[in-house]
Amino acid sequence: MLEKIESLFIDFKEQIEKVDKQADVLNLKSSFIGKKGALSEILKSLKDATPEQRKAIGPKSNEVKQEIEKKVQAKLQEIELKEVNEKLSQSKIDFSLTDSVLDKGLNVGGVHPVHQMQRDVEDIFQSMGFEVLDGPHIEDDWHNFGALNIPETHPARDMQDTFWFEDKKHLLRTHTSTIQVRGMETRKPPFKFVGPGKVFRCERTDATHEMCFHQLEGMMVGKDITVGNLIYFMKTLLKEIFKKDMEVRLRPGFFPFVEPGFELDIRWKKPKKGESEHSGWLELLPCGMVHPNVLKAGGIDPEQYNGFAFGLGLDRLVMVKNAIEDIRHLHSGDLRFNKQFSSY
Ligand code: PHE
Repeated sequence: MLEKIESLFIDFKEQIEKVDKQADVLNLKSSFIGKKGALSEILKSLKDATPEQRKAIGPKSNEVKQEIEKKVQAKLQEIELKEVNEKLSQSKIDFSLTDSVLDKGLNVGGVHPVHQMQRDVEDIFQSMGFEVLDGPHIEDDWHNFGALNIPETHPARDMQDTFWFEDKKHLLRTHTSTIQVRGMETRKPPFKFVGPGKVFRCERTDATHEMCFHQLEGMMVGKDITVGNLIYFMKTLLKEIFKKDMEVRLRPGFFPFVEPGFELDIRWKKPKKGESEHSGWLELLPCGMVHPNVLKAGGIDPEQYNGFAFGLGLDRLVMVKNAIEDIRHLHSGDLRFNKQFSSY
């Protein structure tokens, strides 16, 4: 009987080599180890065997059964793999692309440095409990000017040259302060959020001006907010971005929506001998305490609450950090420029 089991196994091994369809494998399996299969047939005559023979045959038949199961599984996998490969070879997608192909000069996409900066700044503020808000590019007069304490006759409207739509009521937002207004309209103090995005100005382009660039507005409103809070958050932001403590100074700055308004400068170079102590500072961040009229326009009682706001130029920040001398490089679409950034 032992020999019969062994020759059955040899027989099985031969036959499984010849099949290449899932159904045939399963049929083969049941014809060998199924209820009515060859192995069961052999075991039927077990009753005639001596106790010693039985002792040997039991384990042997189990062993062969397991081996057959294993071979069936392996064969099924092999068939499946072959089918998948066949399907892939008929598809138009090339799955064989590897790093070595990329090394040969194929271009891959990456995150643009300005977008990367936006993500980094968002992360920093989110870790300090700020929300990240969005707003539309096409705005109305109220959200871009009126609610920000810039009435129609206000000369500050000339500070930002605007792309108006033909209806003279809508415009491409000139700053992300529009998100300030939308944020105030939809939440109750205390709150803090940032709002990044594209802004548009009808300006002649040069090394420091683009018609479309990127800002990130920030706002914090609550009870008894001070300039000290503003400086704290700005210094934390700058430390995270430049990976070191940055020396800052505030100068008076004029923006109708903040009072007092500031320009926050960072120390960029130590002044050399003979240079004025005012040299070496870099203007980076306009900011200030939110004007009571702006709070009122956003539905917030300025008697109870106050807050700060700031506007960060994301393109400018990328330029300062990477010593880029001309803003036009950033959105030129020139891959030689883009590839210098690690994510490309
Ligand atoms: N919105 C201003 C600008 O684009 C920047 C700013 C924001 C200034 C918030 C002060 C406070 O020029």
